[in-house]
Amino acid sequence: MQTNSRRSMVAGNWKMNGDKALVKQMQNVLAEVSLDNMDAVICPPFPFLGLFADNIKLGAQNMSQFDSGAHTGEVSVSILKEFGCSYIIIGHSERREDNFESDDVVAIKVEKALNAGLTPILCFGEPEKIREDGSLFSYIAAQLDAVLQQVGIAQFANIVLAYEPIWAIGTGKTASPEQAQEVHAFVRGHLAKLDSDIAANIVILYGGSVKGSNAEELFSQEDVDGGLIGGASLNPEDFLSICQAANQ
Ligand code: 13P
Repeated sequence: MQTNSRRSMVAGNWKMNGDKALVKQMQNVLAEVSLDNMDAVICPPFPFLGLFADNIKLGAQNMSQFDSGAHTGEVSVSILKEFGCSYIIIGHSERREDNFESDDVVAIKVEKALNAGLTPILCFGEPEKIREDGSLFSYIAAQLDAVLQQVGIAQFANIVLAYEPIWAIGTGKTASPEQAQEVHAFVRGHLAKLDSDIAANIVILYGGSVKGSNAEELFSQEDVDGGLIGGASLNPEDFLSICQAANQ
């Protein structure tokens, strides 16, 4: 088996939730513990980014595909960098759906984030009907290939991947550890065809109804390196217990 240097990671995607009080609570809870074997990242709505202390790793939930200028309502990667972000969630299925973000736009955003020195958390995953009709792996390969074509395999050394099956997001219907492992192993194999070293070392998170009660089993799978957490990241104690599951 190829050795790897993957470090566990748990990112909390608050989506359009939270308030200033939660910023404080989350900071206090995370300050009380030492999580030496994993990276905990908070991805709050944009206005809260500036309220976190420097010792919290931050991610944005989106960025503009443009650098600057007349793009009302958009936030550029350089602004996010100034506000302390080191990660950016790109290609979340909610943005692909609500904002019609295509694979091509996702690929451009990944490239811009990389050029700015930030780490994209690139999301991919299938709707239920794709899983049912048997085209799961070609669907996922196409989502990743759009980004591979834009930035090349070498840049995947600077990317975190997040497998989020759409049917598991916010539904309470978590993928089984075996289902998650199967897709994560497929993705690693897909990348290994281009570069086995990068494939072995890329961090692949699972997202979709992860909770304190199922995190440990999911994260114990060989190719699951942590989680991208929605609902449970809004409760500091729950989020902490998920981080602790990744800290082993
Ligand atoms: P839930 O954890 O609420 O299912 O959300 C997952 C998700 O979409 C994280 O980005």
